[in-house]
Amino acid sequence: MKIDIHSHILPKEWPDLKKRYGYGGWVQLHHDSKGEAKMMKDGRLFRIVQENCWDPVVRIREMDQTGVTVQALSTVPVMFSYWAKPHDTLDLCQILNNDLATTVAKYPKRFVGLGTLPMQAPDLAVKEMHRCVKELGFPGIQIGSHINEWDLNSKELFPVYAAAEQLNCSLFVHPWDMQMDGRMAKYWLPWLVGMPAETTIAICSMIMGGVFKKFPKLKVCFAHGEAFFVGGAFPFTVGRISHGFNARPDLCAQDNPIDPRKYLGAFYTDSLVHDPLALKLLTEVIGKDKVLLGTDYPFPLGDLEGGKLIESMEEFDDETKDKLKAGNALAFLGLEKKQFE
Ligand code: CO
Repeated sequence: MKIDIHSHILPKEWPDLKKRYGYGGWVQLHHDSKGEAKMMKDGRLFRIVQENCWDPVVRIREMDQTGVTVQALSTVPVMFSYWAKPHDTLDLCQILNNDLATTVAKYPKRFVGLGTLPMQAPDLAVKEMHRCVKELGFPGIQIGSHINEWDLNSKELFPVYAAAEQLNCSLFVHPWDMQMDGRMAKYWLPWLVGMPAETTIAICSMIMGGVFKKFPKLKVCFAHGEAFFVGGAFPFTVGRISHGFNARPDLCAQDNPIDPRKYLGAFYTDSLVHDPLALKLLTEVIGKDKVLLGTDYPFPLGDLEGGKLIESMEEFDDETKDKLKAGNALAFLGLEKKQFE
């Protein structure tokens, strides 16, 4: 069995959001040739996507080709829309979450849903989380690596973490909204350097901000995004972070007195590394119970072979491979294997 924790989906179509809310900044999908669509933001091309981005039948065909049993579906992070008026983001989240629920209900053995929330308004986010879990049956939600000016240690977000803990709702943290200008403007640096940095900032913020200490039952998985360092740069920099923590507690231990290294094993990351040495290090540092198959399907920087790297690892025994491919995802999502059989 293979469960892909990191895959993105869009509805085939949605209302004209500029018309619906009265201002721009939104993403629309323009279907102008068969099997392909343009994601447009204020009339500018953001990304071209293929029909596997919205058509579950095409996805299932491709899953069968790579042996992926189940995809956890989440929206494309550009749809988060945390910058907008909270009630408009809530409305868009409901459009996206309802579409996701319809797809999952149609193919319950092949898909599970990770919802999206208006995180800039934590009270609305908590309400929509309740709806996602209780009415739509989602085991988790996807959130950004930061919410506008808030990093994930922000006290404003604590009610969301409390609700997630209480509802047993898993959090999938996805890098997004990287710095695009200035020194990052060239060489696709936002994706190659910015994305893993985003994830590392998110991990450090949650550890040093005391989030895992305050919410010990919270289940969090960090996606590295379309970059080449799984778990962000964290597995490679944890030594430096821990050393820095002990050298300058006045700076690092302001909100949590516990060494960040102690939190290894307290959270999950996906396995998207494109490199066997990196996957070996990641599994040793994060823990073989905590690494989940994640492909970033259907995007081209993802793992298009759905777990081939895990299967090819000579250092891993079959038990470890099965954990990485499915067992750890079932634990993270709080689901049972038999519901997909
Ligand atoms: Co992604």
